[in-house]
Amino acid sequence: MNPREYLVMSELECYHWWYRGLRDMISRIVDRYSLPNSECLLDAGVGTGENLAFLSKEKQFGYVGGFDASQVAIDLASKKVDSADLYVSDICNPELHQDAYDIVTSCDVINIPGLSQCFQGLQRMVSRIRPGGLFLANLPAYSWLYSDHDLAVHTSQRFAAGQVRTMCHELGLEPIVLTYRLCSLFPLFVLSRLPTMLFRSRSAAEARSALSRPSKYVNSLFSTISRVENRAIQMGWTLPWGSSVFVAARRPLTASLREMRG
Ligand SMILES: C[S@@+](CC[C@H](N)C(=O)[O-])C[C@H]1O[C@@H](n2cnc3c(N)ncnc32)[C@H](O)[C@@H]1O
Repeated sequence: MNPREYLVMSELECYHWWYRGLRDMISRIVDRYSLPNSECLLDAGVGTGENLAFLSKEKQFGYVGGFDASQVAIDLASKKVDSADLYVSDICNPELHQDAYDIVTSCDVINIPGLSQCFQGLQRMVSRIRPGGLFLANLPAYSWLYSDHDLAVHTSQRFAAGQVRTMCHELGLEPIVLTYRLCSLFPLFVLSRLPTMLFRSRSAAEARSALSRPSKYVNSLFSTISRVENRAIQMGWTLPWGSSVFVAARRPLTASLREMRG
């Protein structure tokens, strides 16, 4: 990501409806689907740390770890969640500090190197998820939505839900929630990105992300809309379109039998 984007993200992620909505989604899914006594959490591409800080406050984990390709991100994250094991590593070839994880999250990261680049790294992380444990990912939706925002955060791939389903199957995971998110705000999202979808900056260095501080009223309204949708997803709804694809997938219990057989 462009260096400026880490500072913007670090400043806005606590307040901004988009990040709050994502944390609310993750929290609901962890409540509903994680194994009882889940102890060990890893965030792959932890960014500036607010998601991890939130999860480690909300839930009781014995170990909370997170890595990111950027030292700037890790330094900013360390200020928000000083109890976590935070380190620089690459999702394409991740350093893993635990033998087994109950939950691995990766929000808006796989899209940066792209799936084919990081597939082997994902395989390694998934192989350390305990059978019955969860893999959660949020990804930007639809390749036709590519705009300056993607250039600025160095996204190389946006995803359709079907591609995420195939990714899960190829990783040996069973999707339990697979849906688009931010469905009702989607027309506004497309309109706001349209200018730079049509007229993109010439290089990543020139591009700016779409992140800015919304007014108090917009922030509160969009947070509420996002929470209502999250609640519907938690209750089992699948939303037909949206600006993100969200997946929660389980490592099958049979994985342990396969491992025991060698
Ligand atoms: C859009 S931010 C998302 C951060 C955080 N997951 C969140 O949801 O707020 C993407 C993060 O992925 C990190 N990243 C990009 N490529 C990566 C890679 N190959 N391995 C690990 N992290 C990477 C970036 O440095 C950045 O912090």
